[in-house]
Amino acid sequence: MTSFEQIVERERRFLLPTYNRYAVAFERGKGVFLFDLEGRRYLDFVSGLGVNALGHAHPRIVNIIREQAAKLIHVSNLYYSEYQGLLAEKLSSLSGLERVFFSNSGTEAIEGSIKLARLAGHRAGGEEKSELIALQGSYHGRTFGAMSLTGQEKYRKGFEPLLENVTFIPRNDSDALRRAVNDKTAAIILEPVFGEGGIHECSPEFLRECRAAADRHRAVLIFDEIQCGLGRTGTAFAFQTFGVTPDVVAIAKPLAAGLALGAFLAREDLACAISAGQHGTTFGGGPLACRVALEYFSILEEEKLLENVCRVGAYLKAKLNELVDKRSAAIQTRGRGFIQGLQLDIPARPIVEQALAEGILINSIQDTVIRFLPAFVLEEKHVDQGMGVLSKLLGAGRARASRAT
Ligand SMILES: Cc1ncc(COP(=O)(O)O)c(C=O)c1O
Repeated sequence: MTSFEQIVERERRFLLPTYNRYAVAFERGKGVFLFDLEGRRYLDFVSGLGVNALGHAHPRIVNIIREQAAKLIHVSNLYYSEYQGLLAEKLSSLSGLERVFFSNSGTEAIEGSIKLARLAGHRAGGEEKSELIALQGSYHGRTFGAMSLTGQEKYRKGFEPLLENVTFIPRNDSDALRRAVNDKTAAIILEPVFGEGGIHECSPEFLRECRAAADRHRAVLIFDEIQCGLGRTGTAFAFQTFGVTPDVVAIAKPLAAGLALGAFLAREDLACAISAGQHGTTFGGGPLACRVALEYFSILEEEKLLENVCRVGAYLKAKLNELVDKRSAAIQTRGRGFIQGLQLDIPARPIVEQALAEGILINSIQDTVIRFLPAFVLEEKHVDQGMGVLSKLLGAGRARASRAT
């Protein structure tokens, strides 16, 4: 068997140096656990950056992949196959948004969303109606369109010139929103819960203001639910948690349980802005990925996983709040359900590395935030195990008089 050192050395020689990986190689997974090359077990609070929401190697997913792979993996979008329409119907009934386009990643779902918004904008207000409004601190992906909407310098630097006509406003700043939106606005795009930006929620009031501003100026309201959607907040779509319905929603990560599949969903009246040939993809919406995604939703429903997300998510929140009370390095908890963050006042990466050595997988964002994106099958006993280790690592600190919210 290839050793860990051989794996690292081969990657060092042949890959573009874009990733700063943790010092572990995994061989297999089961439920909320991963196993490294030596068979050592790790409790996984990262779930492949939010992708493995059903846990690793769910038996129904393994079976459906086997069955469908033996029949048909890919045919391209030149032809019909059974599952793309069925999955679109399912997404439409869950979201209330009538039309779907399938992509291969989150970034591509964002690209498609803004292409549709531009077409709709031009239709409603001519070429001039093309401006985009996004939020400071946001993250929408790495392609030029998605990167141009990403409100963090570190992702944009070095790649200029980016897309023109993008205005960034602070999250939850309704006055800035009102100043920025006008009749030239084609779209307002936001994550209801920031993921890479550090786990920050948009307030329901701000989301309602965005809805009203978009309606006033016939702009398209796009929610990027690539990280926070599809169950992570405890509802099928995060917008249902916040009570504000967008015109377009972009999803990806857990949709096909680890196979590459993204999508954007749009209101019926936007569908007429786009016509055959104006957008497309070779891989998107293939029969294997779509069939697995249908199974994903069946499992969510039959195993009542959203209820688990709400119950265990509340438990995780309570345990994180206890850490804030007891450990001076932990200063705030943010997020809900199974998208939560613990704000530290010390660098997070060393804590993540020490947790790894203790068999717990967490990850760090924005230098000082520990992020939790566990699988929806996580139980209270797993939370206890993880928090026990974190509590130890964060060290005995002075008791805090008050807890941040
Ligand atoms: C909110 C959000 N938007 C877009 C993306 C990009 O998705 P992908 O990496 O699948 O292209 C991500 C990925 O982390 C994300 O969290």
